Amino acid sequence: MKIAIINGPNLNLLGKREPHIYGSQTFDDYFLFLKKTYPQWEFTAYQSNLEGELINALHRFSEKYDVIILNAAAYTHTSLAIADAIASISTPVVEVHISQIFKREVIRHKSLIAPQCVGSISGFGLNSYRLAVEACRFLKLS
Ligand code: DQA
Repeated sequence: MKIAIINGPNLNLLGKREPHIYGSQTFDDYFLFLKKTYPQWEFTAYQSNLEGELINALHRFSEKYDVIILNAAAYTHTSLAIADAIASISTPVVEVHISQIFKREVIRHKSLIAPQCVGSISGFGLNSYRLAVEACRFLKLS
C-alpha cells in the first residue's frame, strides 16, 4: 500500500508549537517511527502552509498513492476549496487531528472536510497518524 501524508499550516512547527497541545516531538521524528513500524508500506510526507499548495498536493498524490492521510490543520475549519479537492479525487482521504478538536474552541468543532473523507481520527497526539495508517487496512481500495 502507498500512503501519502499531507500536513497543513503550522504543522512544520510540531515539537516547538504549543507543546502542551501538540506534544514535543517533531513530525520528522514521528515519520521515521512510522516508516520503521510499517516497513511493508510505502510512505511519503508533504507539508505546506498554503491552501493552494495543499490542493495541488491532493491532486498530485491522488494519481500515485492508494490512500491520503490529511491533517488540514486550521484549513479544516475554513476551506471549502480543500473539501472540493477531496471530493474531486477518487483516492480515499483519512482526516487526522493531533488534538481532540471537539474538546477545544467551538470554531474547531466544525470540519468542512469531514463529509468528503472516509473517516476522521482526532485526539491521540501524533499517534492519530498511526491510527490512520491502521485504518487504511480496512479500506476497500480499487
Ligand atoms: C489540528 C487542529 C486544528 O484545529 C488546528 O488549527 C491545527 C492542528 C490538530 O492536528 O489537532 O493546526 O489539525
